[in-house]
Amino acid sequence: MRIGLLTSGGDCPGLNAVIRAAVLHGIKSYGDEFVGFKDGWRGLIEADYMKLSRHDVRGLARVGGTILGTSRTHPYNYPGGGPENMAKQLKRHEIDAVIALGGEGTLAGAKRLANEGLPIVGVPKTIDNDLNATDYTFGFDTAISIATDAMDRLRTTGESHHRCMVAEVMGRHAGWIALHTGMAAGAHAILIPEQRVGIDQVCKWAEQVHSRGRSPLVVVAEGFIPEGAEEALAGKGEEASGRPRLGGIGEWVAAQIEERAGLETRSTTLGHIQRGGNPTGFDRVLATRFGIKALDLAHEQAWGFMASLRGTEIVKVDLTAALDGLKTVPTERYDEAKVLFGR
Ligand code: F6P
Repeated sequence: MRIGLLTSGGDCPGLNAVIRAAVLHGIKSYGDEFVGFKDGWRGLIEADYMKLSRHDVRGLARVGGTILGTSRTHPYNYPGGGPENMAKQLKRHEIDAVIALGGEGTLAGAKRLANEGLPIVGVPKTIDNDLNATDYTFGFDTAISIATDAMDRLRTTGESHHRCMVAEVMGRHAGWIALHTGMAAGAHAILIPEQRVGIDQVCKWAEQVHSRGRSPLVVVAEGFIPEGAEEALAGKGEEASGRPRLGGIGEWVAAQIEERAGLETRSTTLGHIQRGGNPTGFDRVLATRFGIKALDLAHEQAWGFMASLRGTEIVKVDLTAALDGLKTVPTERYDEAKVLFGR
């Protein structure tokens, strides 16, 4: 088979490990040929691609980002997009299957195209870990590890100055990064999109910690909506896809703590540092297993399906299952973490 790979949406440590595994498995087990479309769907639409040989993927499991480049190009709304044109491009360039690596938006596009007859299988990715139908996505563990290290650093400087430290992490609709990082770093409050908390309660937790002679650490997800507010803070315009760019809630929470609780407070936004750099061992293994499975799915002609992690098994699931709502943090998981807030 001649197979095209593409990476679309926000990048994520582990994408290169998927590419490497699929290419090596395809060449060694099936005698396949590979191309990589550049910058997501745009590369397929414009037939802008590069050949991927065994040599090209050498050593890639440990490298962050994506060698193919990525974009948030919509497969239908981009000039020359849509199933008919894309099918023509695949035919013209003799490509038998496409492996699309992406998050919710990418996989929704992949499913729609597969329904219209295109030979596409998916690989789920997002550092936010909010995709349904897979227990974990690669990139998440790396984000937790980077963010936990950052929180540990904030805690030593916070303790030295007897300050309250607020850290804003990614997490647009789901608070998995905030929850796991906050628990790992022993945060005194964790604020996530799924749970409304009043700012008075946050100040109370910070005061309790401060009165014991400790420096409070508050971890807040970018998508957190405080009690009384209507929507997440987004003062930075829009992304190319039209979604508002979130950010700023950490600064707001810090200002409130300073004003209401009278504690000297500093805020840090981790931003894209959480997405950069090399994947952890866990993410390299998960991404490699996804790459192997996706390649097998292409050979099975399981169009419209994706690789997924269930427990410790890599399984095949219909992309529809991944698109059936987001995997948000259940209240029980938040309540579990909450036991230690303010203490
Ligand atoms: O979806 C993953 C994510 O990291 C979100 O947590 C965040 O809101 C968004 O991407 C940021 O996207 P961009 O890289 O376009 O700023």
